[in-house]
Amino acid sequence: MTCKFLLKTVVFWASFLSVVYAQDLTVFDPTCDYKTDPIGIDDATPQFSWKLGSNGFGILQSAYQIRVATSISGLEKGYDVQWDSGKIDSDQSIHVAYGGDALKARQRYYWQVKVWDNKGHESGWSAKQYWEMGLLDEADWTGKWITTGGKDTLDGPSPIFCKSFNVPSGVKSARLYATARGVYEARINGHRVGEDYFTPGWTSYHNRLQYQVYDVSSLLIEGGNAISITLGDGWYRGHTYDKNKAMYGEELALLAQLEIELRDGSRILVNSDESWEFEFGPIRSSSFFNGEVYDARLINFEEKAARPLGMGNPVVVADYSKSGLVATYGPPVRKHESLRPVNIFKTPMGEVVADFGQNFAGFIRLKVRGSAGSQIKLQHAEVLDEAGNFYTDNLRAARQEICYTLNGRGEEIYEPHFTFQGFRYVKIELKGLQLDDVDLSAVVLYSDMRITGKFETSDSLLNQLQHNILWSQKSNFIEVPADCPQRDERLGWTGDAQAFYATAAFNMDIASFSIKWLGDLRADQRADGAVPFIVPAIIQGSAEGPWYGTSGYSDAATIVPWKLYQRYGDKRILAHQYESMKLWVDYVQTKSNHYLWNTGFHYGDHVSFEPTDKLLVAQAFAAHSVQNLINAAAVLGINEDVRSYSVVLDSVKAAFAREYINSDGSLTSPTQGAYVLALKFDLIPDSLVKQAITWLVKDIKDRGNLLSTGFMATPHLNLILSKYGFDDVAYDLLWQDSCPSWLYPVKRGATTIWERWDGIKPDNQLQDPFMNSFNHFANGSIGDWMYQTIGGIRLDEAWVGYKRFFIQPVPHDRLKFANSELETPYGKIATHWKIEGNQFDLEVDVPPNTEAEVIFPHSNMNGLDKDSLRSHAGVRRIKSDKEKLVVTLGSGNYRFHYFTK
Ligand code: BGC
Repeated sequence: MTCKFLLKTVVFWASFLSVVYAQDLTVFDPTCDYKTDPIGIDDATPQFSWKLGSNGFGILQSAYQIRVATSISGLEKGYDVQWDSGKIDSDQSIHVAYGGDALKARQRYYWQVKVWDNKGHESGWSAKQYWEMGLLDEADWTGKWITTGGKDTLDGPSPIFCKSFNVPSGVKSARLYATARGVYEARINGHRVGEDYFTPGWTSYHNRLQYQVYDVSSLLIEGGNAISITLGDGWYRGHTYDKNKAMYGEELALLAQLEIELRDGSRILVNSDESWEFEFGPIRSSSFFNGEVYDARLINFEEKAARPLGMGNPVVVADYSKSGLVATYGPPVRKHESLRPVNIFKTPMGEVVADFGQNFAGFIRLKVRGSAGSQIKLQHAEVLDEAGNFYTDNLRAARQEICYTLNGRGEEIYEPHFTFQGFRYVKIELKGLQLDDVDLSAVVLYSDMRITGKFETSDSLLNQLQHNILWSQKSNFIEVPADCPQRDERLGWTGDAQAFYATAAFNMDIASFSIKWLGDLRADQRADGAVPFIVPAIIQGSAEGPWYGTSGYSDAATIVPWKLYQRYGDKRILAHQYESMKLWVDYVQTKSNHYLWNTGFHYGDHVSFEPTDKLLVAQAFAAHSVQNLINAAAVLGINEDVRSYSVVLDSVKAAFAREYINSDGSLTSPTQGAYVLALKFDLIPDSLVKQAITWLVKDIKDRGNLLSTGFMATPHLNLILSKYGFDDVAYDLLWQDSCPSWLYPVKRGATTIWERWDGIKPDNQLQDPFMNSFNHFANGSIGDWMYQTIGGIRLDEAWVGYKRFFIQPVPHDRLKFANSELETPYGKIATHWKIEGNQFDLEVDVPPNTEAEVIFPHSNMNGLDKDSLRSHAGVRRIKSDKEKLVVTLGSGNYRFHYFTK
């Protein structure tokens, strides 16, 4: 509840709850390594974060205390204590590292935190949380790798491995530890274990393979039980790029350990070993690219597999290593939204097509009735062609097809197991069925990240653009930040990822997802420092081939850690990545001649409308990476590196100036992309900056307010314009709806971001099908500017984790209001502004334990009562000059109201 006071003619009002009500201080959203109550972590020093809840103003944490015990009652009563931090005077409320006794495999730990604030309040203890350790040593794995002994084949039927076992009464708890070479789905007594898809996830399999831990206590019954685990090709053996397949190995394998603890303290182990058996089940083939073929007439087998069998084939024990097994760090892929067709229609060619109204990644859920042997075939596509027909050319070799054969036993419900498609349209082909027999819905899949951003305005086209950005993020953040979800690619292209990361971190909490991906980047980085174009690396060609070490892509090695550190304030990200960052920077220097990176293969400003000299782009990123390394070294206190790499940076910048800046101050490759990158990465001498920005603005205007940048420069284009005072030009680009622009696809009915500015050309022709994805997040990188400039939620380069931030919205005549929110590590920041005539309202939420510097957009602020502002409990400082008013606020909810004339 808020309480508003109208002050004089008003003006500025706020919730003066600190005066009216007693303040509460609470702790909420406690997390351990970014997760709530995780099971199965292998971090020796997990990090704790929490948020403060208070209805007071200007609240800062002054101290905290964390306690950890191995039992709930111990936590309450002070025994079984593993760590008690004591009361620590500190405002640190995020990423506090565990400091107690060594943690043991399988052990569950309970923890709580309490805090004190700067106003003398003390919170109660937070709700009790827990985390549970996974298996920490190779020796903890007593199960054996099992295989079919070479009987399963790529694109062939999925093997189901099973085992029956007895359980006496008195089960206290049960855990399934499992992983696979391939992807797996486990069932106990016929019930699916967990809600995750495509486990064990995708990592640098040559180096590290994740395992999962599930609490399966409730799935066991007294007496006879059965466990069955089905394997699919997945990323391990399936098709991974173009016509590549089996990039990691030819043979699927399973490693599982079901550990049951009884109340009398005894344990039952059901390990994967030679006592298991296997059969081939109803999944006749499954592949991310091609889809799934499922014969439900064989369902009998799967049912049997959930019972004691004794009739399957013997498994073969394999000698695969267990040394690279790691706990799962990132969020698993889960089901999210479900969609219904908005239309089912016949195309001009007479094909029956369902339109789900939204392009996305996921799969179909099918309900059908019919006779045994009748069939339904579904093909998935993103767009219709210009004649309105079903169009799949841009999928290249990916078939994206589901084929389901009915068993004829009443209503049948089917969802695919080891595949997902990128689609909006589904072509339906029926054999022995009528359309009325079939009910289709769709399930949206993505890595289970929390939505943290909200951005909406009075402009419906802009809202659709934000929607499209978010949906391209959903569609492509599936285990790795992939380029696209539909064609025969779906890879962690490092260049696309780094271009989009700043936007991605507004929309969703991408921290643990990215930390896991950076672990793979590290693992796949070559010993000489070269970083692959794609992570996890899909190796093609020779080691010296074109797949390692290119500008703007491999630079993700320095860009992503630094960006994540800024947004999430977690120093450990930098500590873990530091050697990798340094190796990459050193590698670039070994490939440079006198600090000029003019060798090797480079994409340049990929998919731009006007090509920029690729080597100029390379040199710009070379400088940027050195800068990121210096930043990281400074945070980590590695002063020697700060000194030595500052010398390198000066030389790299000098080489840029020598090679790419003409004597009249212009760039040798005078494109928007070149100017944007040079300005963004600080490569233009101060005396020439004005000239450079003038050139950039002129080029935009000469083109009729059109951009010409590609994946590398687009993320920085509007930010640079705004930085140098050209918000109006940035807005002109934003409102542009001719091609190329962000609103052009929106006007063409896009529901996701396109790979190419002109995926559908103004004359309605589709672009080259070889490269024409309609779900590619890279150009959605404008979202960063939208949140920062329209929403006004902005960090200074030196501020991290939103402990301190700017609120600096920049309104525009075309907008009546904008509502922006960001759930930060400290809590929610919100800005809501609206303009009616000359009346401007701004509402701001500043979370406890943070500080905001509000920079008002108008120089005329008639009616704003500065006296009441000055005396308000939450206001820390006020600075004003003729141009602007800057107010520094502590936590609280504030509303400002004034007239601009
Ligand atoms: C991907 C791009 C990527 C590029 C490199 C494409 O196939 O989809 O987004 O950046 O390859 O050229």
